[in-house]
Amino acid sequence: MERTFVMVKPDGVQRGLVGEIISRFEKRGLKIVGLKMMQVTRELAEAHYGEHRGKPFFAPLVEYITSGPVVAMVLEGKNAVSVVREMMGATDPQKAAPGTIRAAYGLDIGRNVIHGSDGEESARREIALFFGEGELLSYRRDIDRWLYEEER
Ligand code: RTP
Ligand code: MG
Repeated sequence: MERTFVMVKPDGVQRGLVGEIISRFEKRGLKIVGLKMMQVTRELAEAHYGEHRGKPFFAPLVEYITSGPVVAMVLEGKNAVSVVREMMGATDPQKAAPGTIRAAYGLDIGRNVIHGSDGEESARREIALFFGEGELLSYRRDIDRWLYEEER
């Protein structure tokens, strides 16, 4: 089963969108295996977005992500990484497909409400960056047989 790292960014928390966003993932069938509210430090933000260091939007991006509490989570499910990316929509909410989270809740690329890992390798890296092993839970849900045809 694949795991991905998801974060409701500070604007999502401030705007009261945490419940609605988590609800979308729960209703899709993704399993929450880690969840916490936290303040991202500058150090963590720079490590998380290290691939963007040197780009013109790097400094404002670090400011944005550290500007208030976030809600960080690890979601598990079949193809969780790509499923979450599709549900989030394009980086720029103006270009996000209708029905996606960014299209539903955002208007500006610098206030795009949510983060999700862009691949399996980034997911592994980001999960390790934000969560200790003891903070992630493996558990069975009785509904899984109604979500998946095969035993998981
Ligand atoms: P994220 O990492 O936050 O999930 O977003 P993403 O993969 O869709 O986009 P990415 O290219 O990784 O960019 C990271 C975040 O930087 C801000 N950004 N601003 N002004 C710009 O051109 C620009 N480009 C990116 C966005 O907040 C984006 O989510
Ligand atoms: Mg990204």
